[in-house]
Amino acid sequence: MVNTLPTSRRAVQDSLRPAVQALQTELVTWRRQFHQHPELGFREVNTAAVVTEQLRAWGYEPQTGIAQTGVVATLSSGRPGPVLALRADMDALPIQELNTVPYRSRIDGVMHACGHDGHTAILLGVARYLAAHRESFAGTVKLIFQPAEEGPGGAKPMIEAGVLEHPKVDAILGLHLWNDLPLGAVGVKSGPLMAASDFFDITIQGRGGHGAKPQQTIDALVIAAQVVTVLQTLVARQMDPLEPVVVTVGQFQAGTARNVIADNATLGGTIRYFNPALAPQLPERLETLVAGICAAQGAHYRLDYRHLYPPVINAPELAALVREVAQVVVETPSGMVPNCQTMGGEDMAFFLQEVPGCYFFLGSANPDLALTYPHHHPCFDFDETALGLGVEMFIRCIEHYCQPC
Ligand code: NI
Repeated sequence: MVNTLPTSRRAVQDSLRPAVQALQTELVTWRRQFHQHPELGFREVNTAAVVTEQLRAWGYEPQTGIAQTGVVATLSSGRPGPVLALRADMDALPIQELNTVPYRSRIDGVMHACGHDGHTAILLGVARYLAAHRESFAGTVKLIFQPAEEGPGGAKPMIEAGVLEHPKVDAILGLHLWNDLPLGAVGVKSGPLMAASDFFDITIQGRGGHGAKPQQTIDALVIAAQVVTVLQTLVARQMDPLEPVVVTVGQFQAGTARNVIADNATLGGTIRYFNPALAPQLPERLETLVAGICAAQGAHYRLDYRHLYPPVINAPELAALVREVAQVVVETPSGMVPNCQTMGGEDMAFFLQEVPGCYFFLGSANPDLALTYPHHHPCFDFDETALGLGVEMFIRCIEHYCQPC
């Protein structure tokens, strides 16, 4: 596939663009290899083995088995300068692929439906380029291949294993291929880019009985139905309307027969928000609503509330750097999406809690090739031209950030 994107004069004039374009065949090969052999979180054994083997072939001495399947490679330029980390996630999803492309998943019920195969290929491309171009930066670049982004989360255990130390990382960057944006567009934002992701499970215990004798029962299904609707008031009537919060109940189980009043009901859901200050408030407010509804009708409840990922918050100076680089890499009219935001969650957030950094979206949809399915869809696929653009974005960010000190 030929990259036909309009590019700035600067990008065309220097030698980086052709060098990255020369990697395109390998990028596609790696990506398709990962795509055919997807692995779920903390089971990325073969993916990590391929990554490790490639890194060793280019002279790296990668550390393996970090947080089970994570891989880290460090490259020093030999000149003093900052330490910049780049992060890619490697895991796939429990989805049966419905695409019929020759490189479709060969593993039943497992699929790279989020583009993490592309992220891993992009970081390999960066590794390959840097190994041959140490003169292009000062300081040190650390490449972090992370497991289990889709849950339960590989970033936190990698940080606990010390990947941000020895040498100490000064800043971190990451990207997500993004089918919500057209190929080549870059979505970046200073401050909150992605939302905190909390999960809750509620079990309501009533008293079951005959469908014709409600006076002898406590109807857990009716109470749970009230909980579902009243939880929306948490957003609509309790939150500042200028403060984005989403409450979604995605699971509701109750009842066994048409003529039986349900003894118990279970609900499962998620809450998303940008403002970290809401983290302690939300479970309290949720519980107050559930407790009130249950108490009023004589039911008992059990609430299990978990903060899964904090919000992804970009440092202004690194967001500015990514924006500046994006203007060099892509110059389509819609090329820059300055205030891109989503209520989706990402465990890149944990890295960004530790060191300043920037996570950004790289557009990968192409309607002309029917590559427009959303992430996590069984027909998800993306325009592989984005792979080279991802490598170029990262390399130019390295060149900008890793100046001699
Ligand atoms: Ni993803």
